[in-house]
Amino acid sequence: QISEAEVALFSVSSYACQRRTTLDNHNSNLTDALSLLAENAELSNEDGRGVAFRRAAALLKALPTQVISISQTRGLPCLGEHSLRVIKDVLENGVSSEVESTKQSKRYKALKILTGIFGVGAKTADRWIREGIYNLEQLRDSGQTLNRAQKAGLEHYDDLNEPVTKAEADAIGEIVQKAVNSVLPGSEVALTGGFRRGKLTGHDVDFLITHPEEGKEVGLMPKVVAWLESQGFLLYQKTTRNSYLESKDGPARPASNMDRFERCFSIFKLTKRKEQESTQPEEQNDLKTEDILRPHMQADTDQQLCELSKNYQMEAASHKIWRAVRVDLVVSPISQFAFAVLGWTGSKLFERELRRWAGHEKNMSLSSHALFDNTQNKYLRATSEEEIFAYLGLEYIPPSERNA
Ligand code: CTP
Ligand code: MN
Ligand code: MN
Ligand code: MN
Repeated sequence: QISEAEVALFSVSSYACQRRTTLDNHNSNLTDALSLLAENAELSNEDGRGVAFRRAAALLKALPTQVISISQTRGLPCLGEHSLRVIKDVLENGVSSEVESTKQSKRYKALKILTGIFGVGAKTADRWIREGIYNLEQLRDSGQTLNRAQKAGLEHYDDLNEPVTKAEADAIGEIVQKAVNSVLPGSEVALTGGFRRGKLTGHDVDFLITHPEEGKEVGLMPKVVAWLESQGFLLYQKTTRNSYLESKDGPARPASNMDRFERCFSIFKLTKRKEQESTQPEEQNDLKTEDILRPHMQADTDQQLCELSKNYQMEAASHKIWRAVRVDLVVSPISQFAFAVLGWTGSKLFERELRRWAGHEKNMSLSSHALFDNTQNKYLRATSEEEIFAYLGLEYIPPSERNA
């Protein structure tokens, strides 16, 4: 038993943008549980509940030590009644019964599988489930009309659900740099998203592109995409043009949190490097076609043949020399670059909290394009993230500590 005196009382801000959240999470048992419930809420279009669970999880990620007793949560912000119940359950029983039953539920499993398809969101998945579609096989058999993104998503399902490594992110970075330099020398590429925060894996790779001379970046994306396409690097791409209107005295005030940069959602075809090809020993990796095919000749029954065919397909897949990787490209004019870098570095919750802080505490509106001071009725220009934090009256938090 732990005495009151032994219980450390933490004092932390209720704003994630006032906390330093590294990847060194001392409470992953609790944050995994809360994150799963957040995800389930988001997939069920219960955004309010989703944010509440995300904020609770983020608070626990920022604590300097492991919480082992519910009494340690006393006085902590961001922990609602529901989150506390989940925390208590995990602390007392090792698992949360709500998390376990969610994981087992047919609906959650189906939502996970279906939204695992690039191009499929919660709404589409929900519609399909109501039509009795719970997995990829049922989806394929259903004859549902898929859009171009969803077709690509289904085709590259396994690759896109395999985490992207830092080495792969760097390899793609080199390709993007080369593309950008080829079509507009002097352009700059910045790695953003989770990899900029120091994550070792990600679900995609995010890049921000700009040019030091304002205006030079106009029309850059289609050229970059055309170059990548001509070199065979793209399996899929959808480019959206810039819809951010510049007015006389500065950029128009953003209507929503969604930014309006010229962007490209893509799927890269990344050739595997030697050391990335396989983790298997060399001799196993060197299987010849005859070795794979030979057993087929010896199959006596259909069932055996089916087994062998499956093995063959697995062998073929493991010998694939390339893989599909999701890549997000965004082009920003240099005048908005600092805001774009800040907005695209994440985490998503950190961004949400920055905007909440700006609005509620500073009467300012922050977007990935600009910072508007509602009191002074003017835009605040910045050329670095540090300046933006300073305008907001916040201590500067480096990317590696924005993992809320
Ligand atoms: N973002 C955005 N608008 C979008 C999509 C993403 O502004 N339509 C921002 C998010 O707010 C986030 C950043 O882009 O700050 C990266 O988003 P994402 O790639 O989804 O998440 P990561 O943090 O990079 O995590 P992961 O490793 O899963 O990719
Ligand atoms: Mn620590
Ligand atoms: Mn990302
Ligand atoms: Mn992304």
